[in-house]
Amino acid sequence: MDSVDGKVAVLTGAGSGIGRATAHSLARRGTTVIISDVDADRAQLVAGEIQTLGGRAEGMRCDVSLPEDVTALAERAVLDYGRIDVIMSNVGVIAKGDPLEIPMDAWSSIIDVNLLGTVRVLRAFLPTLIEQGSGHVVTTGSTAGLFPYAYDRLPYVATKAAVVALSESLALYARPRGIGVTCFCPAGVMTNIVEQIREYGPSTPVQPPQIPIISAEDAGELVVQGILEDRLLVLTDPLAESMIHQHAADREAFLASQIQWLDASQ
Ligand SMILES: NC(=O)c1ccc[n+]([C@@H]2O[C@H](COP(=O)([O-])OP(=O)(O)OC[C@H]3O[C@@H](n4cnc5c(N)ncnc54)[C@H](O)[C@@H]3O)[C@@H](O)[C@H]2O)c1
Repeated sequence: MDSVDGKVAVLTGAGSGIGRATAHSLARRGTTVIISDVDADRAQLVAGEIQTLGGRAEGMRCDVSLPEDVTALAERAVLDYGRIDVIMSNVGVIAKGDPLEIPMDAWSSIIDVNLLGTVRVLRAFLPTLIEQGSGHVVTTGSTAGLFPYAYDRLPYVATKAAVVALSESLALYARPRGIGVTCFCPAGVMTNIVEQIREYGPSTPVQPPQIPIISAEDAGELVVQGILEDRLLVLTDPLAESMIHQHAADREAFLASQIQWLDASQ
């Protein structure tokens, strides 16, 4: 997409963090943004911030675990604006604990929100983009889905790896139909994500990401650059790229070095 000026974007989980910052980045460039979040107050607050700055925005409650909410969000966008140019499926929540301690219902709920939430968004929005023959889909993955660095959040990493794979294969279908696909895979970003973490038992070691933590504002700018440059994978630091290469070149060696680090930190 050459420009986002005058376009219409819908974002999920945009009442905070990366979604909120991306909405601001888009709105600064002239995009009309529909901010959705399970927390309706947050969604309205972010829409209000953008309006105060002179941008065009509206807020709406949408829980991505509820198919009817996601369908209503897509219908509202088409009703209000007649088109959808960018859809960002951004919601991700974490359950943390020893692999033996995380209960089945936590697995189900993380998969339902992170993976099936993305699927619900794609099912609701993609038909409009395909019909238009234009648009851009952004999914939010994570470096957690690209290489192993922690065993204390298995449901999260499983869903993030699935979101990465889903996005890449979706691009096979979408690009020839004029639809861009970007999977944003941040390492650390300063957001409110810890609010959403459910803990099961004491914390376990995590290979501290040597990758620098960035601000949500920088993350939002990277997402918009990814849309403008039609990039499939957007990372937050070149070190993540180099870790992807190390992991791909020798998974055994990569795993051994991560285990060595985790053992030493116990
Ligand atoms: N912050 C990081 O370090 C980091 C790193 C890698 C990936 N990510 C990913 O970035 C995405 C955004 O996270 P963030 O860091 O901005 O977190 P955040 O908590 O600041 O924002 C997430 C928003 O999602 C909303 N939300 C939660 N459950 C929802 C649901 N069922 N339906 C709709 N909205 C819901 C929350 O109310 C919140 O406003 C997530 O997918 C996360 O996994 C974050």
